[in-house]
Amino acid sequence: MEILDRSVARAPQAPLDPVKLPFGRTFSPNMFMAEWDEERGWRDARIVPYGPLQLAPSAMVLHYGQEIFEGLKAFRQPGGGVKLFRPDRNAARLNASARRISMPEIPVELQLEAMKRLVAVDRAWVPPAPGSLYLRPAMIATEEGLGVHSSRRFLYFIITGPTGSYFANGTGTVRIMVARDWVRAAPGGTGAAKTGGNYAASLLAGAVAKQKGCDQVLWLDAVERRHVEEVGAMNLVFVLDGVVTTPPTSGTILAGITRESIGVLCHEIGLPFVERAIHIEEVFQGLASGDCSEIFGCGTAAVVSPVGELVDGDTVYKVGNAAEGPVAKRLREALTALQFGTAPDTHGWMVEV
Ligand SMILES: Cc1ncc(COP(=O)(O)O)c(C=O)c1O
Repeated sequence: MEILDRSVARAPQAPLDPVKLPFGRTFSPNMFMAEWDEERGWRDARIVPYGPLQLAPSAMVLHYGQEIFEGLKAFRQPGGGVKLFRPDRNAARLNASARRISMPEIPVELQLEAMKRLVAVDRAWVPPAPGSLYLRPAMIATEEGLGVHSSRRFLYFIITGPTGSYFANGTGTVRIMVARDWVRAAPGGTGAAKTGGNYAASLLAGAVAKQKGCDQVLWLDAVERRHVEEVGAMNLVFVLDGVVTTPPTSGTILAGITRESIGVLCHEIGLPFVERAIHIEEVFQGLASGDCSEIFGCGTAAVVSPVGELVDGDTVYKVGNAAEGPVAKRLREALTALQFGTAPDTHGWMVEV
């Protein structure tokens, strides 16, 4: 499909300093848009200046939350080029979310072309390492009218913005609160889809966590309330008896692309890696005995973020010596070396813009 270019050319006023770029606060000058309706399918692909959307107050997304999104990054390469990290996986996941939320899929080629063209137009907004350009593709239901049914019109758009690190300090540790009063996702629900409602439902627990001085919430399974699922915007990884261990993607957690990549990197480095159910008591006992030597979150925005403390009610469990552990460090370095092009891309994960 032809992509119309109505972009504006605007470079940042001052060189982008990754240290001064909080996540999600600055947006590049242009965005991608395309519309879908039942008769014509996807159409009117275009790059236009970043700006407010025209949306009727009766647009279905505003009432029934029919919305999905993605998150991925583009990285500045040593020679000055720019590459996206595994955009095909995000495109496939967007389509998986689309199926679950009853929305039309978007051809992967169109998604990839849209991302590449948009980043190329705003390439001046890709900061130097350790910063990156965050891409936020999204699809929303735009049909005007009330009454719960699947919309017959959708808008797909992509915005981007330069970012430093998600948490205050890229290698600082995070403090996580175990959620006991709320659950994020139940079997058969929408936990595996990247849809706004999952995040809206997590906000109250997130606010309580903040009051307790925690950065994010650790979700337990909805049925038995004892198996570890994931954290607000990261998958969780434990080093248990020397084995890199993460809960399986059995439908209630988001299948993170960082998580998937870490599994591959473990294999390559020679670190044992398993996916299995992890009981929260096993984690607490492991922390007390030293069998659980590290916990870290992984995600596009968070990269590899070591957990320093787990808070469960009034009990605070320290993880190791509350600093980045050797496994997290090794995996973070292996992953970022690939992304920033200082290690060879043996997996074909990096896509040139
Ligand atoms: C709920 C949730 N889990 C896990 C992740 C990590 O996924 P990925 O590695 O694809 O960014 C994210 C974030 O993107 C998320 O929002």
